[in-house]
Amino acid sequence: MSIWDKSAWRSKPRVQMPDYLDADKLTAVEAQLSQYPPLVFAGEARQLKEKLGAVSRGEAFLLQGGDCAESFGEFSADTLRDTFKVFLQMSMVLTFGAKLPVVKVGRVAGQMAKPRSAPMETVEGVELPSYRGDIINGFDFTPDARIPDPDRMLQAYTQAAASLNLLRAFSTGGFADMRRVHAWTLGFTDQDDARKYRDMANRIQDTIDFMEAAGVGSAAAHEYSTVSFYTSHEALLLEYEEALTRIDSTSGKWLAGSGHMIWIGDRTRQPDGAHVEFCKGVMNPIGLKCGPSMTTGHLKSLMATLNPENEPGRLTLIARFGAGNVGEHLPRLIKAVQEEGANVVWSCDPMHGNTIKAASGYKTRPFESVLREVQEFFGVHRAEGSIPGGVHFEMTGKDVTECTGGVRAVTDEDLSSRYHTACDPRLNASQSLELAFLVAEELIGLRETRAVKAG
Ligand code: PEP
Ligand code: CO
Repeated sequence: MSIWDKSAWRSKPRVQMPDYLDADKLTAVEAQLSQYPPLVFAGEARQLKEKLGAVSRGEAFLLQGGDCAESFGEFSADTLRDTFKVFLQMSMVLTFGAKLPVVKVGRVAGQMAKPRSAPMETVEGVELPSYRGDIINGFDFTPDARIPDPDRMLQAYTQAAASLNLLRAFSTGGFADMRRVHAWTLGFTDQDDARKYRDMANRIQDTIDFMEAAGVGSAAAHEYSTVSFYTSHEALLLEYEEALTRIDSTSGKWLAGSGHMIWIGDRTRQPDGAHVEFCKGVMNPIGLKCGPSMTTGHLKSLMATLNPENEPGRLTLIARFGAGNVGEHLPRLIKAVQEEGANVVWSCDPMHGNTIKAASGYKTRPFESVLREVQEFFGVHRAEGSIPGGVHFEMTGKDVTECTGGVRAVTDEDLSSRYHTACDPRLNASQSLELAFLVAEELIGLRETRAVKAG
């Protein structure tokens, strides 16, 4: 068996990666990044893998979400804080509703490279290379902005490091303290649609008050006041990933130091391609997007390559078929997993199979389709006796109008009012909470069905 190396991907066919024009500049940036400290520590990646192992057994639930594409322009403490607040709220809804520990993984601190369906973009007769995320080129529709620039990797690294620093502070510095369950509500969600959350928060507050009065609270003070929050992104730009990959001195294994968990996108999962080659050699938990074109043969081969030791928590399969298509594809893939006796986490991405173009020309996602795909995902797992382990979604704490529908009913006409995404349409805070309540209901329903069967 040949020994894996962090640059082994270079000899494999690559797709969705930029062709940098200035090779010397690229080499210089890679050398510089290789000197920088990794952003995460191997012990954290191991911890996350253990928690995902619990998810694969149905003992915890994975909540993975955040921006579609983090941009340099939207980067600010407020943006991070608001996204984190929504994340905490969603996680509370699930923990309290479904009575399951929630493994919290953000699409953050590195989610800056994007696969595109077309290499070129045409606007009013002018054709330019597509925008590929701020780590690669610029969003502005000008020839200059669209040239891939290696220096962007350094800015991305700095942004990721600063984001992670703030998120670590939020997680352990008191911000995430459960006793502040009311404080995470964002101003604009303080309307009717937040009533359900407020009612739940009151009940949580009552429970905590009771436990403290009874003297059992203080023993759990640490559990109240801190959360474990992990980062993740698509490992698309392999020059960046390689430069941050290091050997963990404790285990002697390679760690992708760019984030705790990385995933392989639906467009870059060729079993013999560069992205699979890179991901197979690092010890981090790996996500694998599974869209309608995933064959059972490919899935079996990818599971063998990416998780040869069948380690629980190593591999998360992220199903993204689109509402109405789950029944056609998920059962055959579940069967493939069962035939191999593979340990996997099954997660549902109800976003990427549900993107449409609205009459107004905006790319959007009908919120009903998002909810429906989640329900179909749970329905299939219920029928197959397998475990629906998590959800993967794109959201922001900002009050955007990018996905239509929801209790506050964003219409096609509203899309233009606050459409800020650099890439795909994201759920806003209110839609994210609604999604969390739906998932909690599905989990409660599942538990009741299984209790009846067992009884
Ligand atoms: C994404 O998660 O932003 C994405 C591009 O997903 P997919 O690879 O599933 O299309
Ligand atoms: Co996206």
